[in-house]
Amino acid sequence: MIVVSGIQPTGKPHLGNYLGAIKNYVKLQDEAVANNGKCLIFLADLHAISMPHNPAELHAATLEMVATLVACGLDPSKTVLFNQAQVPAHAELQWLLMGTARMGWLNRMTQWKDKAGKNREGQSAALFSYPVLQAADVLLYQATHVPVGDDQKQHLELARDIAQKFNNDFASEEDPVFTLPDPFIPETAARIMSLRDGSKKMSKSDPSDMSRISLTDDADTMAQKVKKAKTDPEPLPSEVAGLAERPEALNLVSIYAALAETTAEQVLADHGGAGFGQFKPALAELMVSVLSPIRDRFVELKDDREQLDAILARGAAQAREQGTPTLDAAYKALGLVRG
Ligand code: TYM
Repeated sequence: MIVVSGIQPTGKPHLGNYLGAIKNYVKLQDEAVANNGKCLIFLADLHAISMPHNPAELHAATLEMVATLVACGLDPSKTVLFNQAQVPAHAELQWLLMGTARMGWLNRMTQWKDKAGKNREGQSAALFSYPVLQAADVLLYQATHVPVGDDQKQHLELARDIAQKFNNDFASEEDPVFTLPDPFIPETAARIMSLRDGSKKMSKSDPSDMSRISLTDDADTMAQKVKKAKTDPEPLPSEVAGLAERPEALNLVSIYAALAETTAEQVLADHGGAGFGQFKPALAELMVSVLSPIRDRFVELKDDREQLDAILARGAAQAREQGTPTLDAAYKALGLVRG
């Protein structure tokens, strides 16, 4: 069992990141330890430069993200926690895979289409080839489990396609260079939506801060955002089928279920018939009880620059060692001469 995943250190991590991905990093970290496996979680700082960015902000956000992940329960003695920029093998393997990835595959990526919009010509080449770096991230470590939210599923399918084609073209079935990774996506929280618009996912880049719960929000801010969340005038149904045409209601019920570690069915069995005037305060209370301890730990850690730098340096050294055999095998398979 080799668990690998990444998160971009852009903006503040939010409830969607937590429920869709970070919670599973922590769960799989413990499973990996119990099964003699490995868990590697990294900050995708190389991905972050594919969009216009401010270098000082990226630096600060990278350290804040380490503090957040540790506050959420990642334990640097169990998980190799690092940033891509300190492990050059990610960028090297990306280049080695660029000969295998097809333009047509990259052109079909919905995230590329969404981010580029109508201005494809004006985007960085990094934004277009971003999924190849993501493939390198997981293939470098022979990942088996990749905990992600639903929005990364297509990128993981691409990583499998690249691995498969590379193995076919440059290796043999008996002795493949890469393992095909499987995405590990939560059932209830695969796609947490914006609190302002149930058709858009909760995102770090949404201009409205009211659209998301940041993991660093204080209790009052969280309660306020839940209170102001868009809803409809109907009370909650008692069955999940009753949420079919009600995206905002479905989102709040899903958030409740994921925070309480139960199912949407169970939430509706308990709260069916309640109006939002009743349900929202219950949701806010639950949210604060789950997220406040995380925030408290984050506040304790965030200014301990020395500790955060040390975590990243140690993680990077371990990751460099861990990735070497696969990087060497990829160079060799391609016939590249290296001293
Ligand atoms: P990023 O930084 O956008 O998001 C980090 C993780 O959070 C999940 N996520 C969500 N889950 C549920 N609901 C939401 N609203 C929501 N928003 C974000 C994402 O699915 C992701 O798991 N390209 C990646 C980073 C990356 C990566 C990788 C991930 C780089 N290399 C290799 C896995 C494996 C990204 O931008 O995630």
